Parts: sequence; C-alpha cells; structure tokens
Amino acid sequence: MSNSLVDRFGRVHTDLRVSLTDRCNLRCTYCMPAEGLNWLPRAEVLSDDEVVRLVRIATERLGITSVRLTGGEPLLRRGLPQLIARMAELQRAPELSLTTNGIGLGRLAGALRAAGLDRVNVSLDTLDPERFAAITRRDRLPDVLDGLRAARAAGLTPVKVNAVPVRGTNDDEIPDLAAFAVAHGYRMRFIESMPLDAQGAWDRERMVTAAEILDRLGARFGLTPVERRGNAPAEEWRIDGTDATVGVIASVTRPFCGSCDRVRLTADGQLRNCLFATDESDLRALLRGGADDAAIEAAWRGSVRGKGPGHAIDSPEFRRPERPMSAIGG
Ligand code: GTP
Ligand code: 5AD
Ligand code: SF4
Repeated sequence: MSNSLVDRFGRVHTDLRVSLTDRCNLRCTYCMPAEGLNWLPRAEVLSDDEVVRLVRIATERLGITSVRLTGGEPLLRRGLPQLIARMAELQRAPELSLTTNGIGLGRLAGALRAAGLDRVNVSLDTLDPERFAAITRRDRLPDVLDGLRAARAAGLTPVKVNAVPVRGTNDDEIPDLAAFAVAHGYRMRFIESMPLDAQGAWDRERMVTAAEILDRLGARFGLTPVERRGNAPAEEWRIDGTDATVGVIASVTRPFCGSCDRVRLTADGQLRNCLFATDESDLRALLRGGADDAAIEAAWRGSVRGKGPGHAIDSPEFRRPERPMSAIGG
C-alpha cells in the first residue's frame, strides 16, 4: 500500500484509537481517584468537525482501516450517533468499534448500530453488585448488564467483555466471568493491569499475570489455543465443548509491541504513537491554525516515524507517560 503508515521498524499502522472525551461516569479504583480528574475544558476537546476531518485524512491518506472510539467514557460524548454516522459515511469508511463501560448502552445501542457502529467492547470486572460498587465506586452493575444485552440484540457483535483482574479484589472470579460470557455469547478477555492509573498506585504484585489467569481458567475449562488474529493484543483460547473463546491481553508479561499497528488520538487532538509515548504531536494546533490535509498527513507520518520499539514496563528504566490511561483512551 503506497499510502501506508510505516514506522522505522516496518510496522504498518492501520488502527486508530480516538478518545472522544476524558470524562467518565465510573471511578474504577485501578484507573482514577474517587474525586475524578481535572477534566479538559470543553474548548480544548476536538469538535465533531475536527474529529471527522482527522478520521477522513487517516483513512484517505494514511491507510487507516479501523477506528476505535474510546474515552474516558465515549458514550458521554453528546451526539455520538451523529458523529459515528459521519465517519461511517466517509468515502473510505473504516471499521468502527467502541470501547465502553456499558452504562447508557442499553439506551444507545440501537442508535449506534443504525449510525454505522460495527461492534463494542464492554468493561466488566465482576458479576457481584457489591464488588462492582467497590471497584467502580458506583452502584451500576445492572446498567452494564443491560448494556451488554442491548449491544448483542442490536448486532454490535462480536461483543467483547474486558476484565482487569486485581489480586485480592476480583481474581477469584476469573472462571465465573468466563462462564458468564460463554452463557451469553460474549467474548471474554482478561487484561494484565498496566501502570497507567492516574494515582500512580499500580503495584506489580497485585497485577494478575497471564500465566495465573490461564491457570485459573484451566482449572475450570479445557482450553485449546486459537491462532492469533492479525496484530490483535489478545491471545485467545477456545473453551472446549463450546463455540466461545477466551482471551488474555498480556501487555506486561508478554508484550506485543513488535506487531503493533496502532496510533492514538487524544480528546484534545494530540497524536500519540504509543500508549506509553512520552511525547505527542499537536494535531489540534495544526487544525486550528488552518493547516491543509497534506500538512496534517506530514505531521502524522512524522509522529509514526518517531515511534519507539515498545514499552519497557518490566524494566527499571520504565517511565510512565504523563497522561493516565483515561486521558489516552486505553
Ligand atoms: P479489539 O481486539 O479490536 O477488539 O480491541 P482491543 O482489545 O485492542 O481494544 P480495547 O479498547 O478493548 O482494549 C483492551 C485492552 O487492551 C485495554 O487495556 C487496552 O489498553 C489494551 N490495549 C489496546 N491497545 C493496546 C496497545 O497497543 N498496547 C498495549 N500495551 N495495550 C493495548
Ligand atoms: N491497565 C490495563 N487495562 C486497563 N483498563 C483501564 N485501566 C487499565 C489499566 N491500568 C481497561 C479498562 C477497559 C480498557 C479500555 O482498558 O478496563 O476495558
Ligand atoms: Fe504499541 Fe506502544 Fe502498545 Fe506496545 S505499548 S503495543 S508499541 S501502543
């Protein structure tokens, strides 16, 4: 592909993650403090026109073929179905997916699907209402379960469920979460927690490793490895006797940076070539300064050329990015 977005290591970038807001209606303890964060002032957040323009440039000029909308919580973005419809109507429309905590999905799933959204990933760390309230600091488990059902009914499939196991909090629920997903036709993935929380409280000892996750799953289910899908972060296994797969995203113990195909745009219009990047390219300044498409394309290519080989979470030299996960979009 002549227009492809290639870095110094030959990695081709076809996947764009766009954060639509840094705000969230939950306060997951592994993500942010109870009081929330200093949210971006509205004027700093890209407008719908700006987001659509960048997605158009990415798909027309840079070879981006899939766009994932993230947050904070992207369902908090006003007019989300209309924004999605505009992306879906682009001449080179990308595959469109969304990562959400599920609150509000019950109400919005049909409109999102009608607008052109293809699929959703929903975060769910526990099936126990009290635990849910303790982990997220909000008593909203029924809303998430309702959102999941609505997503499946609306055809936002495959519906994937993301759980971050934390030792002593919900790690005992790993097989139950997988069984729940099998029963309801969702694709379960367990994620190693990364040092990207806003409080800087991440603790390697409380992170549940992929090896432990697999041990716990293996005690309940027979598992057969499934060939990895392209550059997907998740390694997957088929649960014997079912059609269902279960995945593990082992960012820390089995990094997948070597096949990374992602770039990220923050809600305030900063391009990040890596989740763990320490610098950003200010596309908002270009947009608001009247830059033409070619100039934005050039800045984008420059950012990707500067991409490093990957993170070094498990090394003593590791430096956290300045922004927490919730302001990057995961
Ligand atoms: P699909 O596989 O396309 O469904 O999406 P996804 O799993 O990449 O996206 P999702 O937003 O559901 O993210 C799940 C977890 O993977 C989150 O914890 C993300 O932070 C993590 N993740 C996504 N992309 C990357 C990446 O490039 N690097 C690392 N280290 N983690 C990532
Ligand atoms: N490490 C790994 N995953 C995280 N998520 C949120 N914080 C972290 C973290 N520190 C997950 C959410 C959501 C996805 C986008 O990222 O649970 O499913
Ligand atoms: Fe890509 Fe950076 Fe994630 Fe590694 S940490 S997979 S390089 S975005």
